[in-house]
Amino acid sequence: MSQGKGRTALVTGGAGFIGSHLVNRLLSLGYRVVVVDNLSSGKLRNINHAAIFHHGDITDRAVVEFIHREQPDLVFHLAAQTSVTHSTRDSIQDANVNVIGTLRLLEAARLYGIDKLIYSSTGGALYGDPQYNPCSEDHPVAPLSPYGVSKYAAEMYLELYHRLYQVDYTVLRCANVYGPRQDPDGEAGVVAIFTQAMLEGRPPTIFGDGKQSRDFVYVDDVIDANLCAIERGSGRSYNIGTGQMTTINRIFESLREIIGYRWDAERGPMRLGEVYEISLDAAKAAQELGWTPATSLDDGLRQTVEYFRDTVRAGR
Ligand SMILES: NC(=O)c1ccc[n+]([C@@H]2O[C@H](COP(=O)([O-])OP(=O)(O)OC[C@H]3O[C@@H](n4cnc5c(N)ncnc54)[C@H](O)[C@@H]3O)[C@@H](O)[C@H]2O)c1
Repeated sequence: MSQGKGRTALVTGGAGFIGSHLVNRLLSLGYRVVVVDNLSSGKLRNINHAAIFHHGDITDRAVVEFIHREQPDLVFHLAAQTSVTHSTRDSIQDANVNVIGTLRLLEAARLYGIDKLIYSSTGGALYGDPQYNPCSEDHPVAPLSPYGVSKYAAEMYLELYHRLYQVDYTVLRCANVYGPRQDPDGEAGVVAIFTQAMLEGRPPTIFGDGKQSRDFVYVDDVIDANLCAIERGSGRSYNIGTGQMTTINRIFESLREIIGYRWDAERGPMRLGEVYEISLDAAKAAQELGWTPATSLDDGLRQTVEYFRDTVRAGR
């Protein structure tokens, strides 16, 4: 396809889980793709060789120069400090990456001009313990962690730069994203963590009664949402989720069946500060971006298990 012919897309965080899928898709659409990543959680092996890789930090002034040089038409901003736990231990570092890093990109966009910045924000960490489910975008914002605050502060800077300097943007507030290449050693990403454990013959740990629920959205669907936002949703924010609540117990049972794991899970105490149940209403994204999730949970889980089987076999 030639949708991206002659156009340059910058993907910050392109060595990470979601970013690396986006890089592949943009390349397949004919974009020239440039990645900025400091490899703090991303992996070199995730980056497509056809992309231009800049090992750099979005909080550095040098990123502004870099954008000046590369002249991207589009910026997909995914680089972030993504750990909720880390954000509670070091909220200054969290804010530095998520707020100052975003501001650097916005400054570059203001100075050198880009067509649009598409920002991966969070739905799960923004609305706190929801007053109703599924949450729509106008649900009160009440983060339970510094991570939720820093992601939201970046949203507000986007809105401000749009108003003051006409920097165009769209915010995608993603639910719990899962799929191939998610880091199974992280604290989040229950699908990756459970899958890796069971494939290695270890019991995964379910915290609390396992009845806590999340909205699981497959990574390919999130990439679709990023692409829909290229031409639509100017100056707007959208929930990107399925609207379905799925319990952790259900995730365990489904994965156990797909993998053929015969043992039970271990149980641990409920983690503090965890939202008990949440799902996101993505009706606005359907209406205005023309986006709906296409992958059923069972299909998504099967594709994820297939990927992890290969990596476990390859000893990675
Ligand atoms: N995975 C989810 O469920 C989920 C849900 C909601 C929102 N998001 C958002 O989506 C985005 C991508 O998340 P992910 O799950 O792919 O996480 P990830 O950790 O796999 O990717 C983040 C990438 O950013 C890079 N990075 C971090 N700090 C950087 C810095 N200072 N300079 C340059 N690069 C830096 C990391 O090395 C990594 O490659 C994040 O903005 C996250 O907040 C993710």
